[in-house]
Amino acid sequence: MKITISAIKADVGSVGGHQIPSQKLVEAITNHVKDEGQRLLIDFKISHSGDDTAILMSHTRGVDNKDIHKLAWDAFVEGTKVAKEQGLYGAGQDLLKDAFSGNVRGMGPGSCEMEFEERPNEPFIFFAADKTDPGAFNYPMYRGFADPFHNAGLLLAPDMAGGFEYTVMDVNYTEGDRVITLKVPEELYELAVLLRDPEHYVVESVRSRATGDIGAVVSTSRLHNIAGKYTGKDDPVALVRTQKQFPSSGEILSPYATAHYVVGDNRGSHIVALMPCKQGSIISFFDGPAIVTAAGLCVHNGKFTEIVDLFDQPFWDVIRNKATEKTLAIRDQGFFGAAMAPMEELEYTGVVQRIKELDKKFTIRKE
Ligand code: 13P
Ligand code: 13P
Ligand code: MG
Ligand code: MG
Repeated sequence: MKITISAIKADVGSVGGHQIPSQKLVEAITNHVKDEGQRLLIDFKISHSGDDTAILMSHTRGVDNKDIHKLAWDAFVEGTKVAKEQGLYGAGQDLLKDAFSGNVRGMGPGSCEMEFEERPNEPFIFFAADKTDPGAFNYPMYRGFADPFHNAGLLLAPDMAGGFEYTVMDVNYTEGDRVITLKVPEELYELAVLLRDPEHYVVESVRSRATGDIGAVVSTSRLHNIAGKYTGKDDPVALVRTQKQFPSSGEILSPYATAHYVVGDNRGSHIVALMPCKQGSIISFFDGPAIVTAAGLCVHNGKFTEIVDLFDQPFWDVIRNKATEKTLAIRDQGFFGAAMAPMEELEYTGVVQRIKELDKKFTIRKE
């Protein structure tokens, strides 16, 4: 059976600051999807990570389906109404357009979708990150699919011997989707030179070269490209199919043990270590740290199993401590040098206005 899995997420308001959506807000989104999704969806799950609420859906309408996107948009509109009623912070934050127009892409919410012929056994992982941007997935997608240090299956499993094909998007290009496709292992170094710059080049999808099957998709929208100013982080979602022709679930999770540094955290403008957290985790220290959650599921005839929380396991407690230590280490130097996001990211904040003002006061000293 050919199914589509769609993950669409947005921040439409949160309690206490940018911490967590209210229960009522999540209920409003859930009720809308339950009622209005009946004729559209096979199944759905609602979850939240930090202040973002995600709608995970299965259906047979393919990717970029107008009705599916409208369902999610309208659910977030319902959530916004509750956020306003409750005086939540950032009510409607990620709904950047007044009216829905065909597709949530370019309108604020983040989305990623994959259509595929269901395997008899179909495990996958739904990742959601808060206080960071889509480039946060570059490192784990590179290492999880292309590096035998993490993906031992590249050495051990004949199903993956052909390698993978990455589609990478230039997210600074705003006229349309500017993409490149690279095959690993042959073009591993070409892939590496792009992915090392996660604010510019972002993994959009990964396919198995042996079967052509879609293996991973990442939401790649950039809020500041849409709004023209800083409106919050892009807090990405990703879907990864696992096992057989794809890395095992554990191989995909393995790179997260690095707690790699990402751009995000407070005002989306700092460098902190990405902390793998349990689903539903809240945001705290310095409007962060940047977090990632991982829901493990199987799907059959479009029906989801229960979710298992893949970072709710004692191993990850040590990694959470490591992430805390790495974050504190760089936070020690505040806004200086490498502790703050690169200038292109800050261009959308007050820093640039200040520099413009100061620029007028600079003088060139005569000999
Ligand atoms: P299966 O042989 O059950 O697919 O598991 C592969 C594996 O060992 C993952 O690490
Ligand atoms: P969100 O993008 O998660 O709303 O975070 C905004 C922010 O910058 C908090 O400091
Ligand atoms: Mg927010
Ligand atoms: Mg958020």
